[in-house]
Amino acid sequence: MSFLSIKDFSKEEILFLVKRALELKKGAHTQVEGKVANIFIEPSTRTLTSFQVAQDKMGIKRYDLHVENSSFKKGETLEDTLINLKAMGINNFVIRNKEESYWKDFKYSYNIINGGDGTKNHPSQALLDAITIYEHFGTLEKLKVLFVGDVNYSRVYHSNKDLLEKFDSIVHTLDSEKERRVKLEDCAHMYDVIVMLRIQHERHAKKMDIRGYNKEFGLNDNVVQKMKSNAIFMHPGPLNRNIEIDEKLLYDHPKNKILEQVTNGVFARMAILEKTCKNM
Ligand code: CP
Repeated sequence: MSFLSIKDFSKEEILFLVKRALELKKGAHTQVEGKVANIFIEPSTRTLTSFQVAQDKMGIKRYDLHVENSSFKKGETLEDTLINLKAMGINNFVIRNKEESYWKDFKYSYNIINGGDGTKNHPSQALLDAITIYEHFGTLEKLKVLFVGDVNYSRVYHSNKDLLEKFDSIVHTLDSEKERRVKLEDCAHMYDVIVMLRIQHERHAKKMDIRGYNKEFGLNDNVVQKMKSNAIFMHPGPLNRNIEIDEKLLYDHPKNKILEQVTNGVFARMAILEKTCKNM
């Protein structure tokens, strides 16, 4: 089965994956017979590597397609690539692609785990974020979560919103393109979780002017001091140091969950691989 969008899964299915990932984090054993190709047409450090670590831990045979040296460079389409890899006996594909919902144009169906498509879906990131939030609060219900920055282009935001709203959590945005009247410092006290987003320079048609960004939308000491005592902050990475977050808040501030997110990424992806490869 595929794992394409948070929208395809019920609240109960999401909660099952969160709890399963936490069991795996505590050392539960899992072994999966399967072959997976990792096809990352857009760059990645965390998503790709954590899928690889997860696959190695689970005994899954993995095949990492080196896109820069592949026949994509000769114009082969993604679907022709999948058809050929399938003919070699590889049945599961972790794919990151610039195009949104590219699978809708495929002639055949494939087991695809979505490592990020365009600006709309990054479901495995939303799951690891949910695990991180659940670990801290013991629930995903009725929390107040603020996403800050380049919201419109953020697939992390869109998938997180889809997930958190299933649990009646309230999702607000402080959009760096629109809401210049409210500063992060002035609203930080309202939220349980503040998620800082990366400025997606590569997706902007016009170069964004980042002068003043840190003052209005950046996470700094002033902001952190205004946060609720039990509140946390997160960032999916990669981050722009001293623009989205002051570097002195990296990485050991008690409210900072960024590296916990990265660690949880491995277990989130193990739970997803277990579900998709075993067709659970
Ligand atoms: N959070 C995230 O998707 O990071 P990478 O782009 O490094 O995979």
